Amino acid sequence: MIFDFIDGSAGEEQCSRLNVDKLDALRLLPRVLVNVEGRKQQKSLFGRSWGLPFGIAPMGMCNLTWPGADLMLADAARKYDIPLGLSTMASSSIEATGERVGDRAWFQLYVGESEAVANRLLERAEKAGFTHMILTVDVPIIGVRPREQRNGFKSPFRIGPRQLLDFALHPQWSLTTLRTGMPRLANVNLPGGEQLKRDEARGLLDWDYLARLRARWPGKLIVKGVLGGEDSIRIRDAGADAICVSNHGGRQFDSSPAAIEMLPLVRQAVGPDYPLLFDSGVRSGEGVMKVLALGADFVLIGRPFLYAMGAGGYAGLCELIEMLRNQIDIGLAQIGCPDVEDLDSSYVLDESKGVNAR
Ligand SMILES: Cc1cc2nc3c(=O)[nH]c(=O)nc-3n(C[C@H](O)[C@H](O)[C@H](O)COP(=O)(O)O)c2cc1C
Repeated sequence: MIFDFIDGSAGEEQCSRLNVDKLDALRLLPRVLVNVEGRKQQKSLFGRSWGLPFGIAPMGMCNLTWPGADLMLADAARKYDIPLGLSTMASSSIEATGERVGDRAWFQLYVGESEAVANRLLERAEKAGFTHMILTVDVPIIGVRPREQRNGFKSPFRIGPRQLLDFALHPQWSLTTLRTGMPRLANVNLPGGEQLKRDEARGLLDWDYLARLRARWPGKLIVKGVLGGEDSIRIRDAGADAICVSNHGGRQFDSSPAAIEMLPLVRQAVGPDYPLLFDSGVRSGEGVMKVLALGADFVLIGRPFLYAMGAGGYAGLCELIEMLRNQIDIGLAQIGCPDVEDLDSSYVLDESKGVNAR
């Protein structure tokens, strides 16, 4: 059930498959006779340099993967000096995460039916020292994910015979989770405090809200879940500091285009200098390179980090990050581009022309 919650997507899961397949299909053209000693993966974004060109996408209820998963992500963000998206639906509190990761943690905001709840979250994030806010705009209503329905996955949990059997068949997870306690939403389910239910509609979000948020939030504002050029221009002009091109990993709308196919169009729309992040479907270091080459300034990765922790806890998470780092390192050498900052579309084979632009 938990694997299906993480791995699953909306509808027939065509969009999440397309995200991966379209990225896989892209080819990078090696350039030869370039001195590639001293390869560099530090990437600058928002006026500072990050340890790697990718970070951790905000994900709700990570502790279902394995007890303490949120804190493992936080520790990895600190160890590798990469950003960590902290979801509104996180199972660790804004305050505890801020203390552990400092301003590498970016708070991801969902706005439900009550703007007062959102405002309270903003106040807490600001007080806890957060300087970056991600406003997610591609969940006007939560997507229907058939695997969750089939398994009877609900928050809070309802435990019937099907779930009991599932837990019994996964004793290590069940016993560890029993010992540490079932994860709960640490920021929106406070007793007597703010409430935002997982399945609550979030359709009130509109351009006026974006303007109010921009006026209110003094830090960096990243708008996540954007695919269209016109929307991107309007978001940029509304004063957002960056856009994250994303279709939520295909978890929202099955007929969405593959996110990677929209990236060059969004880049063209917002111009060469506007900060763009990207997520949805990145599964390897070479995938990270392709996304950067197609115009993103930074890459976020979601599910793979959860798979890694489900398989191997914190050690598994670090192993994955190092694997990605090695793949990028080797990839940079192979294509004759010693610095991730220099990746651009000239490295991407343009299939329509049959040749590389150079
Ligand atoms: C289990 C899970 C929970 C997620 N929860 C959130 C969330 O609370 N807020 C949000 O903005 N995105 C959420 N996302 C979407 C991710 O931020 C990201 O867009 C997506 O996972 C990227 O695709 P990838 O998994 O193919 O890398 C979630 C994704 C997963 C897999």
